[in-house]
Amino acid sequence: MHPTMSFCLHPRCILLAAVTFLCIWAIFCPSEIRKELSCTPLMPAPAAPVPPLSLPHLLIPNIGVCTGLGSPLFLLILVSSAPDHQEQRDAIRASWGALQEIQGYLVRTLFMLGEPSNSPLENIKEVLKQEAQVKGDIVQAAFMDSYRNLTLKTLSGLAWAAQYCPDVHYVLKTDDDVYINVPGLVAELKQRGNDLKKDWQQRYLDRDGTAARSPNLPVPYLYLGHIHRRVYPSRSEYSRHWVSEVQWPSARGPFPPYGSGTGYVLSAPVLRLILRAAGGVPLIPVEDVFIGVIAKRVGVIPTHSIRIAGASRYPIDRCCFGRILLTSHHIEPWEMKDIWELVKSSSGNRPLCSWLQEALGMLRCWVIHHWHF
Ligand SMILES: *[C@@H]1O[C@H](CO)[C@@H](O)[C@H](O)[C@H]1NC(C)=O
Repeated sequence: MHPTMSFCLHPRCILLAAVTFLCIWAIFCPSEIRKELSCTPLMPAPAAPVPPLSLPHLLIPNIGVCTGLGSPLFLLILVSSAPDHQEQRDAIRASWGALQEIQGYLVRTLFMLGEPSNSPLENIKEVLKQEAQVKGDIVQAAFMDSYRNLTLKTLSGLAWAAQYCPDVHYVLKTDDDVYINVPGLVAELKQRGNDLKKDWQQRYLDRDGTAARSPNLPVPYLYLGHIHRRVYPSRSEYSRHWVSEVQWPSARGPFPPYGSGTGYVLSAPVLRLILRAAGGVPLIPVEDVFIGVIAKRVGVIPTHSIRIAGASRYPIDRCCFGRILLTSHHIEPWEMKDIWELVKSSSGNRPLCSWLQEALGMLRCWVIHHWHF
């Protein structure tokens, strides 16, 4: 046998290969490590005065959702849905959307809709009204529901949140084909919120050590998602993501970093900054890019989380969906219920992940995803 070949089967060589693989993964997979390197601003610059945002009025305003809850809503989940997607909405209602409280932290899920355009269903308007009345979780605004109007849908939802849920701490914007690990997300936001507050105190308040114990701390600035960087606008008029030269001039280069629209979180102060600045920016029809553009304007740097899967579809797996991932895209309505059953803590007394799976966490889900084990 050739000497180098026998050397490469040596355990040390295998270990070296494994370490190299891990390093490459850590560098190229935008990760927590990168987040640590980019410095999240704690006090963004104030937005320059801009014309107020004019949005379509609400057809189904549903203004009572956040009143009389007893304590402030911790997380509002705004699901972008199409009028004829009742099956998708029902699947969410029957699975993760049913969760309204996680260890004392209140959560609500609402569906954002526009007006049905040319739906094959004749009586869809009546059906929708009924659905909204019975379920009480629909907000509908007066604009034509189309892919190129999704930015209007998001803005209507965010404006609704700011107006009718003024005490909410975090808002998650997502779509009706995304599985949300609600307990995981609440825990993550609690943790990040505490860390950011501690940072904030140390920098700004903790001069004499008293403010650190103050219970009335503000909700920190947070824009969390699966962050896309250096994405250039599509100039093909046939593309769903077409952005015109007026909306984003080529001279400006790539878009600023933005969180994939499949799931991004804005904390209340960021939400308010974004709404205040949105009127001064051309309405880029790609909803998630638009939020990234305004965030950049108001000085909010997005934070990447490898647990937010973005647009990738991960194979259904109990540990990944129940513990590690916070959002997972491309989930069909029937799969929502399947995953929900799978991750229910009562399915046996088996823990969601073994200690090894938990420790390797994201790496494990990522490997399953890429190699379809
Ligand atoms: C967006 O909604 C408005 C208001 O209903 C409508 O006039 C417009 O045609 C819609 N745009 C697209 C691209 O669908």
